[in-house]
Amino acid sequence: MPTYRIEGGSPLRGTIRASGAKNAATKEIVAALLTDDTVILHNVPRIGDVAITVDICRGLGAEIDWIAEDTLRIHAADLRDVDVPVAFSGVNRIPVLLFGPLLHRHGRAAVPLVGGDDIGARPVDFHVAALRRLGATVEQEGQTWQARARRLKGTLIDLPYPSVGATESVLLSSVLAEGTTVIRNAAVEPEIMDQILLLQKMGALIAVEVDRTIIVEGVARLRGAEHRVLADRIEVASFAAAAVATDGDVFIEGAEQTTIMAFSNALRRVGGDFDVRPEGIRFYRGGELTAIALETDVHPGFATDWQQPFVVLLTQARGLSVIHETVYERRFGYTRELRAMGATIQIYNTCVGAKACRYRYGDHPHSCLVQGPTPLRGTRMTIPDLRAGFSYLIAALVAHGESKIDGAQYVERGYAVIPEKIDRLGGRCTVE
Ligand code: EPZ
Repeated sequence: MPTYRIEGGSPLRGTIRASGAKNAATKEIVAALLTDDTVILHNVPRIGDVAITVDICRGLGAEIDWIAEDTLRIHAADLRDVDVPVAFSGVNRIPVLLFGPLLHRHGRAAVPLVGGDDIGARPVDFHVAALRRLGATVEQEGQTWQARARRLKGTLIDLPYPSVGATESVLLSSVLAEGTTVIRNAAVEPEIMDQILLLQKMGALIAVEVDRTIIVEGVARLRGAEHRVLADRIEVASFAAAAVATDGDVFIEGAEQTTIMAFSNALRRVGGDFDVRPEGIRFYRGGELTAIALETDVHPGFATDWQQPFVVLLTQARGLSVIHETVYERRFGYTRELRAMGATIQIYNTCVGAKACRYRYGDHPHSCLVQGPTPLRGTRMTIPDLRAGFSYLIAALVAHGESKIDGAQYVERGYAVIPEKIDRLGGRCTVE
């Protein structure tokens, strides 16, 4: 297992370029399976989750080639298989998105169960219920979901919660369905909007209404398209938090203001600041860092994937910060290691934010108090998941002394060339 070795204490300073968004690129590769024609995707990050998605789609018969450093050509005219191998179960959330394309192409799909992980149970009940409403039969057999449908039919789908994955599942299943599909309470994350733009280029008819209702008018066929994946707003926010936490000054080329508004507000309230320029955004400290209260939420709220880097930043802010995680039921496990580094953090099952969330009953450790500022000291840590992994890197960069962080492969699943980017900013990071 690769290990990061970081010598902390140097402010991050300089310029890096934002990579393409993992959570858009991977889904757009899947969307390309909806057509016989060629789809070209630019700004695709070279990360583990993209490699896994490419492997899954190649296994189904798609021809996929890197035709430039960050450009993928996908040609799925000969999609012959309908079974996503069980080996991909629990690897990432992509297999469950393949129902739509496979049902349209073959009327049948076998998709491995995708399991829970360290941040929550992560069920797929919304996906399955939506597919059934669209007319598919979906049954669990052993380690897989077996789905069948002669032709999916448009319908009303009222999501119990604005799930990103379930919204994407319905989009991918309804663009070629017969008739109109209405998705109420849909998620409208920037990555979903980016996917809708690609689907529109491919010939789909999709309207997004002001109240998070998405209306999809099914079309008979989709064609090829060329698309540039939007910048990764999670990577941008992670480096922005690192810049402010280390009292540095980082310019991120390609960072898009519209995708990080809630993050930028929180950053400024804490004492960070930023200048938006045509080519990107510069992040730095505007004054003393002070505690704030924040709540994660679906877009346009403060994204749950920004929570971990932000908590590290809050360990350096004066006063008591309050963080209420409302998207996942247990996304604070990683704070144990931060406490070992010297942070003062308490986790609670109750809702400590302004509103009660769906985790208010039961044993859900989903609220967090951070008392700062506390110096951090370098230590040895093991990464439990992708976003926690980046927060450990930030903590190690802030800390005095050396840290060794095991499990670099988790970070490499979602972030491209991280040691190189940290190195370019003057942070001392190597992989062993
Ligand atoms: C996506 O996961 C992202 N992953 C996550 O990023 C991100 O944290 C999340 O959206 C929220 O923004 C990818 O895009 C690959 P959800 P997804 O369905 O789609 C519950 C990362 O590190 N739910 O919006 O799986 C679920 O348990 C990852 O890049 C159901 O109950 O998230 C969760 O509590 C981590 N039943 C909530 O909804 C369902 O059928 C939101 O999940 C589906 C979801």
